[in-house]
Amino acid sequence: MAGPISQRFIDDLLARVDIGELVGERVVLKKAGRNLSGLCPFHDEKSPSFTVSREKQFYHCFGCGAHGNALRFLMEYDRLSFPEAVEQLAQRQGMEVEREDDHLPAAQKEKLAEQRRKRDAGVNLLELASDWFRQQLTEQHAAEARRYLDGRGLNSDIIDAFAIGFAPDSWDGLKQYLNGHSVAENVQVEYGLLRQREDDSRTWDLFRNRVIFPIRDWKGRTLGFGGRVLGDAKPKYLNSPETPVFHKGRELYGLYEARQQKSNIARLVVVEGYMDVVALAQHGIHNAVATLGTAITEEHLTRLYRVVDEVVFCFDGDGAGRRAAKRALEVALPSMIDGRQARFLFLPEGEDPDSLVRQEGREAFQARIECASPLSEFLFDQAREGLDLKRVEGRERFVAHVLEKLRLLPQGVLHSLLMEELSTRSGISVSRLEQFVAPASQAAQPQDNAAASDTGETSVGAGRFATAGRTTKVHIGSAPITRALHLLVHNPGLSSDLPEQNDWCPESEDGLLFIEVARLLKAGGYRSSQVLLAHFHGTEQGARLITLLKRAPDMAREDQAAELRALIDMLYKQRQRLSPEEEYQQLLAVSRSGQKLTATQQHRLLALIEELGRR
Ligand code: UTP
Ligand code: MN
Repeated sequence: MAGPISQRFIDDLLARVDIGELVGERVVLKKAGRNLSGLCPFHDEKSPSFTVSREKQFYHCFGCGAHGNALRFLMEYDRLSFPEAVEQLAQRQGMEVEREDDHLPAAQKEKLAEQRRKRDAGVNLLELASDWFRQQLTEQHAAEARRYLDGRGLNSDIIDAFAIGFAPDSWDGLKQYLNGHSVAENVQVEYGLLRQREDDSRTWDLFRNRVIFPIRDWKGRTLGFGGRVLGDAKPKYLNSPETPVFHKGRELYGLYEARQQKSNIARLVVVEGYMDVVALAQHGIHNAVATLGTAITEEHLTRLYRVVDEVVFCFDGDGAGRRAAKRALEVALPSMIDGRQARFLFLPEGEDPDSLVRQEGREAFQARIECASPLSEFLFDQAREGLDLKRVEGRERFVAHVLEKLRLLPQGVLHSLLMEELSTRSGISVSRLEQFVAPASQAAQPQDNAAASDTGETSVGAGRFATAGRTTKVHIGSAPITRALHLLVHNPGLSSDLPEQNDWCPESEDGLLFIEVARLLKAGGYRSSQVLLAHFHGTEQGARLITLLKRAPDMAREDQAAELRALIDMLYKQRQRLSPEEEYQQLLAVSRSGQKLTATQQHRLLALIEELGRR
């Protein structure tokens, strides 16, 4: 039984790998200055935007935002789990994977081993239970259950393939069986098979008189169960509780079974229920999986896209279905790097995949899947819901809705196509639209630390900035004063044309920091952020400045002065308490006078139109 991989080993491994070589074995790379560059393997492109830095030991794609170190590359490219990637990389380097407990004192090592034994025993215990449920389905007392499954159109092949079983109507059938296999009762409780009363500790089987669907992980290990009543009693389905091995928001029912197919599956269809998955398989559609009574999560998507490049979400045709679809869209957008696809299938009201495939058969249902709406279509459809696109206000709100969603989408081909489509539909040019969008998924990019390195690194900068390539997203906030501060620290020269008075500045933390930073910059006539870092070193404000410096403003340098003026102007008006109508009228007047609105003003105008429209 292997323990967790030691962090020291991972660091050691990464220090010995040359990422340029590793990536070069899979992607054609050319030298480009100090870096290597090539066509990005994670999205479709014609000119290279994929960079590998040997110095920093990471890769970054300016097209789709994919980035990471050697391990991340292997995980994404070879679709490996983290431990698998470590294993493979270690093998390549001729190293033996080292576990956390290799260096531990014997007592601690034993404790960890015990925990793992328990975990494996848990899985074994679930395997035992699953076998028992299956055996029960063949017994005399399961006649009604067999009739039920037959009535739902399931034959014995499918029942076997999904390891469907039966929990008899008994308080302790499973408990007796597991006791007979020396499984302690507290373990049975921990893994959700036995219920235990608080006051007298009496225990009884959780699943009674139900058809049992084992939930397995992608390797086929049983993690938990779902049990359906034979009649109309409530609750219709009972699921294993959260246990050390079973987490509802992560697992997908049917994923293991789908992967058992001989031919490679190109897409997975996400449905709602156990029965939908099984009925579709019975009709020859073997690529359906179900979430377990929960909405789709990011973890689900990570798992799905590890197996296929296309996911079709299937929803009921009613209001609840549409709401679920909207949620799914929001969860899916950040995962949509190029090469991946998501589509949305709405069923007729009152039907589910089980009832439909039984009515109309495989071909017809397959045709529905083929015709499911692409993500783009669904996105535009739902953004225009309830809006009158013949009116300017309707179109403005439509644009705002779509842009809000596009902010969640990584940069890439899909993003560009959607921008073009939005441009066609709204009549606003792509370049104007682009000014509205600040991509949320813009990960810290290698050039982000240019501000630090071109002036020589201080001790504050060096350590923190060096990690920029593999940091997670840096969230800096979007309040106007924050954006003003962001511009100022990246471009200290802007301090020379700030207003004399600070009466426009809000008294928030960023506001006070802005005033202090502006004062220092003006007093010293500084042109570099380094003095600021030195001045605020070790303070909370220092930390804030580092956060801001990690992420470059998404705007050309020559536009930054105008942007900062517009932000200050806007804050000044807010201070004078202009009503939204007044502010709207003012901005409209500026735009009508033929003057070009800055990005801030455009954002503000859209926000105002939305706000006024809601009243
Ligand atoms: P549905 O109520 O739509 O049931 O629940 P269904 O899949 O159509 O079931 P049949 O056809 O009547 O057998 C969909 C899913 O929601 C979860 C289950 O995962 C189920 O498959 N669910 C539903 C529960 O967990 N508990 C319940 O009581 C009901
Ligand atoms: Mn159903």
